Amino acid sequence: MTTGNDGEGDPLFTSIDPIFARKQLLKIGHIPEADRIVGRDEEIRKLASALNPAVFGHSPNNVLIYGKTGTGKSLCARHVTKRCREVASNQDVNVGLAFIDCSQQTTETQAIRKIGKILNDEDATSVSIPESGLSTAQYYDRFWKIADSLYDSVIIVLDEIDRIADDNILMQLSRAEEAEKIRDCGLGIIGISNKIDYKERMNERVKSSLQEREYIFAPYDASKLTNIMENRDDAFKDGVLEEGVISLCAALAAQEHGDARKAIDIFRHAGEIAFEEESSTVGERHVRAAQELAERDRFRELIAGIPAQAKAALLSLAQLSIHNKQHRFSTSEIFEEYERLSADVNLERLSERRVYDLLKEQAFLGVIEMNRTGGGRGQGSYMEHHLVEEPTIVRAVLQEDPRFNDLTYRDRTHFKLW
Ligand SMILES: Nc1ncnc2c1ncn2[C@@H]1O[C@H](COP(=O)(O)OP(=O)(O)OP(=O)(O)O)[C@@H](O)[C@H]1O
Ligand SMILES: [Mg+2]
Repeated sequence: MTTGNDGEGDPLFTSIDPIFARKQLLKIGHIPEADRIVGRDEEIRKLASALNPAVFGHSPNNVLIYGKTGTGKSLCARHVTKRCREVASNQDVNVGLAFIDCSQQTTETQAIRKIGKILNDEDATSVSIPESGLSTAQYYDRFWKIADSLYDSVIIVLDEIDRIADDNILMQLSRAEEAEKIRDCGLGIIGISNKIDYKERMNERVKSSLQEREYIFAPYDASKLTNIMENRDDAFKDGVLEEGVISLCAALAAQEHGDARKAIDIFRHAGEIAFEEESSTVGERHVRAAQELAERDRFRELIAGIPAQAKAALLSLAQLSIHNKQHRFSTSEIFEEYERLSADVNLERLSERRVYDLLKEQAFLGVIEMNRTGGGRGQGSYMEHHLVEEPTIVRAVLQEDPRFNDLTYRDRTHFKLW
């Protein structure tokens, strides 16, 4: 039976969403198909050439990939390693692939256990990888057995590698063949980081045994961001996007550094805002309103899972920045604010030293920046802190935590200006 409404299904149930046709294409965490990756041909080619020996069952070259957030590092690594497996498998070469997100597996033991779990086939190896009860060394031993018995070659991707506190895992993996821990299997590591100074923090012995190739992913320019979005504009229904929408998303996302995640995020939020307004098209005003939501998303992701005390320290710095003309504050200024704030929300008050440590951790994660002041004539130098993100956005996201959404102390008390 035909429904008479140009093939879209039963007329009673059509037009649920007048804006999006395939919104999933723009969702966070969606991994696009190969034909939607644009503008990274050169990087993909270099990565493929580093991994090429794996296709023949030999050891692939170790690789470190650096680049700012949203530059396609994880995406390209996923794409190339997947292709490498497929090409190898066509030639009866068995390449094992373990993609580890080190922001989830933050210790050496967790990471090596996960690698073992991903690559194991217990029926074939008779090796088990229990959740607990083994030492780190035992997890390594089991992984060597699994690699040797199941694979010609193994590629281990350590994404966000800077989040693993200890670089011993790199040492162990990169020396495995030389130390004859594995004999019948090639092993290659791809480390990915958006911390450009990651290598400087690395142990000298690890550096020398890794012998890696290094690739830098440059930020996208506005025209590449435009291509990336155009290649997913079928997320929207035909005719919904007004002229100039994509290029405005690209221009806004390229303002700081060309971040494709942010571009796609703005693009999706613009559609959602248009939907909520019951507009039939997405226009520039929706894009502008979407920008702040996208920035909040990014900040929310950056601070996901941090403890309440760290939030209180950040919120203190945000409050100071919002209520003063300047944006840089000393540890003791932040601590004074923190004392008032923690009293207001009934949070246990930590010492100034602990608050300083929390700020240092946030600097390590890139949420704030810390600088030592020059120290004027007769003055000692001291540490100054400032937020990388807009303070109002920081405050809005931190106040999504119910413990902090009702701050009253700033209204009640009179403050000196610094
Ligand atoms: N060249 C591209 N073509 C299509 N989509 C892209 C491209 N580069 C990035 N993206 C999309 O942008 C988002 C961010 O990319 P990706 O996760 O690879 O960034 P990243 O460099 O790993 O960032 P981070 O350092 O924050 O982990 C993803 O949704 C990805 O699909
Ligand atoms: Mg990534």
